[in-house]
Amino acid sequence: MSPIDVSNLEKISTEIFAEADTACVAVAANIAECIRLNDTNKQTTVLGLATGSTPVRLYRELIRLHREEGLSFANVTTFNLDEYYGLNGDHPESYRRFMQDQLFDHVDLKSENTHVPNGLATRDEVIQSCQAYEQAIIDAGGIDIQILGIGRTGHIGFNEPGSGPESRTRLVTLDGLTRRDAARDFLGEENVPRHAITMGVGTILDARKVYLLAWGEAKASVVAESIEGEPTETIPASFLQTHRDCVFCIDEAAASRLTRIRYPWLVGPVEWTPERTRKAILWLSQKVQKPLLKLIEEDYAENGMSDLLTEKGFAYDLNIELFNTTQHTITGWPGGKPRADDSNRPERADPFPKRSLVLCPEPMDDVYCLGGTLHRLANQEHEVTVAYQTSGNLAVSDNDVRRAIELIMEVEQDREDREGVGFARKVEQQLNAKGQFGEDTVEIRHLKGFIRRSEARSSARLLGLKTEALCFMDLPFYEKGRYRRFKSEESDIEQMAELLNNIQPHQLFATGLGHDPLSVPAICFQILLNALARCEDKKWIKDCHIWLYRGPGSEWETHEIDMAVPLSPDEFENKIRGIYQHQTQRSQSPSVSGKRDRNSWNLASDLNRATAVTYDALGMAEYEAIETFKRFKI
Ligand code: PGA
Repeated sequence: MSPIDVSNLEKISTEIFAEADTACVAVAANIAECIRLNDTNKQTTVLGLATGSTPVRLYRELIRLHREEGLSFANVTTFNLDEYYGLNGDHPESYRRFMQDQLFDHVDLKSENTHVPNGLATRDEVIQSCQAYEQAIIDAGGIDIQILGIGRTGHIGFNEPGSGPESRTRLVTLDGLTRRDAARDFLGEENVPRHAITMGVGTILDARKVYLLAWGEAKASVVAESIEGEPTETIPASFLQTHRDCVFCIDEAAASRLTRIRYPWLVGPVEWTPERTRKAILWLSQKVQKPLLKLIEEDYAENGMSDLLTEKGFAYDLNIELFNTTQHTITGWPGGKPRADDSNRPERADPFPKRSLVLCPEPMDDVYCLGGTLHRLANQEHEVTVAYQTSGNLAVSDNDVRRAIELIMEVEQDREDREGVGFARKVEQQLNAKGQFGEDTVEIRHLKGFIRRSEARSSARLLGLKTEALCFMDLPFYEKGRYRRFKSEESDIEQMAELLNNIQPHQLFATGLGHDPLSVPAICFQILLNALARCEDKKWIKDCHIWLYRGPGSEWETHEIDMAVPLSPDEFENKIRGIYQHQTQRSQSPSVSGKRDRNSWNLASDLNRATAVTYDALGMAEYEAIETFKRFKI
C-alpha cells in the first residue's frame, strides 16, 4: 500500500498547538496585527466573533493585549455570528450578554460598533432584520477576520447540518445534539431555545480570513471530517475547504482523529516506538477483523506496516508480544493483588490495604465511570475515599428543588421546632422570584448541592462504600461560576493540596486530561496538577500511582489502556443501579457524539460493554463489561 499524501488529504490548512492557550495567543497576535495595520492606514477593522466555551481564552488574551500592550479597539467593528431566538440581550444565556461579559465590557470598543443578531425580532420582522444584518456587514466593508468555533454537529455559527454554502443570515431551528450540548447552560434541555438567528455559511465564507478554533477530544471527529472529508451539507464546517484563507487552530486533543496523527504509518515512514507499534497492531487487528494471534504477514504489508516487519521480525513475534501486553492490562484487582506475583500486573501488590483516592469532577462521575472498580476496591478492603471536587449544583433543575422543598415541609409539619420550614420557604420564595432563567441564589445552589450529595451517598452505598468515605469538596471556582465561564483560583489549589496531604494516597483515580479546557473535568484536572506540584517534596507522592479514567461519556481507546477491570454480570447490574440513584441527572448526563441517545444513562453501560467486545475480538477472554484506566506520570 502506498502512503497517503497529507496535502491531498487535509483540505484545510491546520495548525496543531500543544495547548488551547498557545493557540489563542497566536490568533490574538494576528488579530492585533490586523487592527494595528488598519489603524495606521486609518481604516476600520471588522471582526466576526463567536460565542461558546471555545473563544473565551482568545477574548481573555485580547483583553490582556488591550490592558497591558495598549491594543485599542476604538476603530474596530464587530459582528457576532448568532443569537438565540426569543432571548433579550440581558438574558444570562443570550450571546449579547456573553459578549458583554467576556469581551465588550473590558475593552474600548464603542457599543454602537458591536453587532449581535436581534433575537427579539418578531416573526414578521425577522427576514428584514436578517437582511439588514447582512447589509450592515457590507456597509462596514466586509469582515476582515472571522473567528469560529465548531459544534459537535459540524455547525459553524448555528448553521446546522443541512445548511448549504449559499445560505445567508436567517432564522434556523437548532439540532437536537446542539440543544443537548446547551442543556447545562439552560438548566435542562427543555429550556434551551429551539430557534436561533445565524449568519449563513455564505456570509462566513465572504470573510477575508477565517480562524476556526477547537479544543478537546469531543471535537476530534468532527474536526477530522471537516478537514479530510468531502464538502457536504451534513457537516457545514466542511465548506470552509472552499475558502482561500481559512486556518484551523486546534489543540492536540482536537487533532487526535486526523489521519496524520491517528494513523501516521499510513501517511509516511514513522519511528516504530513501542507505543506506536502497539497502537498500529491493535488498529490492524480491528481493521482486518482478526484476533491478534491470527494476524499474518500479508495483513501487515497490505496496511502500510511492512517496514515494521522489516524492522522487528516475524508477524507472529509481534502478535504474541502484543497479545501478552494486552492480556496483562486485565486485572480484577485494581488495588493490586495482595501476596501475589505482581510482575505482570498493572498495580503493585504492596502496600496492602491501599489508600485509594478517587477524584470526581462532579457527583455521579464515580459510579458512571468506575462503579465496578470502586465496588472491587471496597470489597477488597482498601481504604477508599471518593472526593467530589465540585458540588455539581448547577446541574439540578428547579423542579427537583421544589420536590425537595415539599419533602422538607412535609417532614417538618409534625415537628415542634420546624426549623427546616424557614429555610425551605426562603428557597421557595427565591425560586419564585428568579423566574425560569434567573441566576440561582446561594441558598438555591446549596439546596441543589444537597440533593446531589444525597444521590451520591445513595449510589455509593450500593457500591459498598461507607458514606464517611465520601468527601464533598465544593471547590470555590464552581460555586462562584457558571458553565463556560469558570475561572479557577488559588483557594481551589490549596483545598486540593490539603486533601492530598491529608490522605496521602497510594493510588489516585482522576479524569479531565484532553477535555475542553473550560469544562469542569479539565479545570479540576488542572487544579489537581497544580496541587500535585505543591506536594512534590512529600514522601507519599513518590509512591503514588495515578490512574486516569477518561469519561464521563467516553472510554480510552484500546492502545491507551494500562488497566482493564472486568465486571461480572452482577457487578455490571449493580453499577447501573448505582447510576440510577442520580435521579436529577437523567436528562443531564453526557450524550454519545452524533447519536440521539435513547437514555443517556445507558451510555456508561454501552461503553463498558463495547470495551469488553473489543477485548474479546482481540482474542482476550470474553467478559460482560470492562472499565479502563491509563497510567499517568507527572
Ligand atoms: P463551544 O461551542 O465553544 O461551547 O464548544 C462551539 C460551537 O457550538 O460553535
